Amino acid sequence: MWPHDAVAELKRIAKEKPAAAGAVEEMRELPIDEMTRVTVVGSGQMGSQIGMLCALSGYDTVLVDIDPAALRRTQRELAARMNQWVAKKKLTATEKDAAMARLSVSSSLESAVGETDLVIESVVEKLALKREIFAQLDHWAPPHAILATNSSTIVSSQLASNTARPDKVLNLHFFFPPLTVECVEVVVNANTSEATAHAALEFCHRIGRVGVLIRNEIPGFVANRILGAMEREAMALYEAGIADFHDIDLICRQAFHHPMGPFEIMDLSGNDVTYLAMQQMYEDTGDRDWKPCGSLVEKVKEGQLGRKTGIGWYTYPREDKNDQRSFKK
Ligand SMILES: NC(=O)c1ccc[n+]([C@@H]2O[C@H](COP(=O)([O-])OP(=O)(O)OC[C@H]3O[C@@H](n4cnc5c(N)ncnc54)[C@H](O)[C@@H]3O)[C@@H](O)[C@H]2O)c1
Repeated sequence: MWPHDAVAELKRIAKEKPAAAGAVEEMRELPIDEMTRVTVVGSGQMGSQIGMLCALSGYDTVLVDIDPAALRRTQRELAARMNQWVAKKKLTATEKDAAMARLSVSSSLESAVGETDLVIESVVEKLALKREIFAQLDHWAPPHAILATNSSTIVSSQLASNTARPDKVLNLHFFFPPLTVECVEVVVNANTSEATAHAALEFCHRIGRVGVLIRNEIPGFVANRILGAMEREAMALYEAGIADFHDIDLICRQAFHHPMGPFEIMDLSGNDVTYLAMQQMYEDTGDRDWKPCGSLVEKVKEGQLGRKTGIGWYTYPREDKNDQRSFKK
């Protein structure tokens, strides 16, 4: 569903349902045009690019991380990436300078969110940590601020219950690399207001992304349930000795016209990220099918995390470490 369709649907529901009269009022009250300040918590491979995307789209953006080295790396890598875009004429030097000027970094969550309108949390996939961060965000961010999580698997009701503003909490699930992939899953929970859903969809539209509204919460949402099922089956076939991982990837590319096979995708996302997502799914659902496969556990134990470490399922020449091939504006 395209964002404007989803927005139209929300407006229609708000008009049709008498109980939604309040929601119409809320929608009017929500100053979407005045939403100018975004905070992204966690400046890893996802958060850094989400922050850059927001800054490129005109939002004053702060990237927060507890690790000062991660912030320094982020600034260096984003500046290099934007210079490449200028060289490739995807961006003018003036546009790049303006976007970089709108992007700042901070290691203090408290000061970063004091005047924010929207927070996108993108720290590591651990429920206890995200719950703690949502409690802090609720304490320090202004009451009007929307609190979103970029979790791969965790439904927002598990975080909303740690805040006093459950109506302003939802999932905004981006895909790697967020500067390139245009889809965002906008997943609401039972307490998310129509106004918040509307604002989130409009925000996606304004950053040039297709927000797809999902009204029913389920761990892993839609995309990662489908992707996870494919990755699990691929690893099961590999572990059973049915086919080598190269050939499984080749079959998926050739037979389904997938741009990458499941093992290539795991290397791109990070084997640690896939491991944590599957472990979280296992804990959330109790379904043993989600328990991370032995070969994935081994990769993580050996530090073979994929492109970011130069070795995962495949080996990458040093200069390819951050090559995301389809990286485009
Ligand atoms: N990698 C993917 O393909 C992908 C895709 C969609 C969503 N996600 C989700 O995005 C989130 C981040 O994933 P990633 O791949 O960017 O991970 P990452 O490991 O690259 O980055 C996580 C960052 O969070 C920081 N962090 C940890 N604790 C923190 C705290 N208390 N306060 C502030 N920063 C803190 C770390 O220092 C690190 O820089 C996860 O929830 C993940 O499931 C990942």
